[in-house]
Amino acid sequence: MENQDLLQERRVSPLLDLVSEIKSLKQKLNAVILAHYYQESEIQDLADFIGDSLQLSQQAEKTDADVIVFAGVHFMAETAKILNPGKQVLLPDLNAGCSLAEGCPAELLQKFRDRYPGHILISYINCSAAVKAISDIICTSSNAVKIVNQIPEDQGIIFAPDRNLGRYVMKMSGRKMVLWEGACIVHETFSEKKILRLRLGNPDALLIAHPECEEPVLEKADFIGSTSGLLNYVTTSEATEFIVATEPGIIHQMELKNPSKKFIPAPPESGCSCNECPYMKLNTLEKLYLCMRDRKPEITMEEEVRIRALKPLKRMLEMSK
Ligand code: 13P
Ligand code: SF4
Repeated sequence: MENQDLLQERRVSPLLDLVSEIKSLKQKLNAVILAHYYQESEIQDLADFIGDSLQLSQQAEKTDADVIVFAGVHFMAETAKILNPGKQVLLPDLNAGCSLAEGCPAELLQKFRDRYPGHILISYINCSAAVKAISDIICTSSNAVKIVNQIPEDQGIIFAPDRNLGRYVMKMSGRKMVLWEGACIVHETFSEKKILRLRLGNPDALLIAHPECEEPVLEKADFIGSTSGLLNYVTTSEATEFIVATEPGIIHQMELKNPSKKFIPAPPESGCSCNECPYMKLNTLEKLYLCMRDRKPEITMEEEVRIRALKPLKRMLEMSK
């Protein structure tokens, strides 16, 4: 019965103009909507700020809004909460997780870490608050190489949870690191063979890839970067065609900024749409409206965990300047 009531309560009239409702709720709550590039286009179009993980955390750190509505995944909203304990942080769907975060529980990572005494732990921001709390420094795909390059050469490093980003950082920095064996379910689906075939059919197209892709794809890429790095590259490049090896949500901004250029999403191994992040796509315009109307689901965490997680996050923000 309770579930029935809940369903009733969360039903939205099809006559409701969700876009104008969200805009007026934004004013009423003094809220800011932060969106990641992998969100649906209609959500991106409503956001106050769209960015990669680093830009979104920088934006969360400096906002003076009372409420942060995070159109992204759980670890991103959690990061905003770690930085803003006094603000309410809303996420349209609490199940919007991340395979990297889910594949790296803090207790197991701590046991892994204990096997390498004297090493520091650098964790990719795609992890839980509990993992951040046992880490020394956080990084994102846009600053990982810069951060590792600032660590003294004789200092051992454990890198978690993404082994593909870890390998890429090792290659770019020339540093050896101990890697946790995690991966992104989306970036691992890109098929090297299908990309090669696409290149034959589009000989002028450049291949651009996110560092979460596997090594064989990265080896063939003309450019590797975070989502904002990829967007910036296609905007400043003289080339006019690109094969995009990351979640296709980013193509919306690529097309808006470069209406005359052609963007081809890199194909996954099977004929599925598994190049789309199933977690990111859990957020819909309707859920965005409901979370603002009901001021839930809300991100909460133990203060003790938040304080420990804040330290490596602040270190990252300092080291990225
Ligand atoms: P960016 O920081 O490059 O936006 O990456 C986030 C992410 O989840 C990639 O899969
Ligand atoms: Fe996580 Fe991959 Fe989705 Fe990014 S694309 S949120 S790394 S599952």
